[in-house]
Amino acid sequence: MLIFDSGVGGLSILKYIKKKLPNIHYVYVLDNEFFPYGNKKKLFIIERSINIINIVKKIYPIQIVLIACNTASTASLSILRKKFNFPIIGVLPDIHTAKKITKNNIIGLIATKATINSSYIKKIIQKKSFNKVIKIIATNKLALIAEKKIRGIKVEKIELQNIFQPWINLAVQPDTIILGCTHFLLLKKEIQNILHPSVYFIDSKKIIISKIKKIFYKTKIDQKIIKNIFFYSKNNKKLQELLFFLQEYNFNIKKKLI
Ligand code: DGL
Repeated sequence: MLIFDSGVGGLSILKYIKKKLPNIHYVYVLDNEFFPYGNKKKLFIIERSINIINIVKKIYPIQIVLIACNTASTASLSILRKKFNFPIIGVLPDIHTAKKITKNNIIGLIATKATINSSYIKKIIQKKSFNKVIKIIATNKLALIAEKKIRGIKVEKIELQNIFQPWINLAVQPDTIILGCTHFLLLKKEIQNILHPSVYFIDSKKIIISKIKKIFYKTKIDQKIIKNIFFYSKNNKKLQELLFFLQEYNFNIKKKLI
């Protein structure tokens, strides 16, 4: 299985996959050369996603792809599915579940600017049948904070407060919050601390597991990759700092994507 993201966000999904489906082997691509995706144009993200899949495909037999990134999924999922003949799963903001769970009928959606501006999101929230209030924060800063946190750098409360100010100021805060970027899952505790303690977070982890399971059972996939491989697209100081924190992911091989 190929899993890719612009950075460490996808690792939050990978961690859960490892817990629920421990026998799965994976190739993880950390596209740090082009991080963040949140400020990129749709066409760029589509081309980059195609490129990543093509490069890995030449080296390893890909049987299933997981785009562990909402920004890349909202931009490119439908196109990638047309282009490649293996199953492709995308991580997408789960607005459907949020609608079912909210009690005060106020949903919060926080995601990158590219995700919020995507036609995928616009179509859902502009539908006439969308009978809930949705409060949106579009930010490219929060993913940067998550990147720092995973490299052991302290998260400053004030930085988070600035990002969440529009919700902190509300008379009634959303009771259900969609974490529409895989990076944000790494900051759940910190976010909870500055919002209401009973806020319910929606991420797409569980949906992803059931999708992977379905594909594996349906097609009876016999895994062709027997190692866990980590690719990065740029070797820099930040990457070197990150490598230390990757130990728990059991990567057998770490190398540059070329
Ligand atoms: N992890 C990505 C997502 O789920 C995006 C972070 C970024 O590169 O801007 O949207």
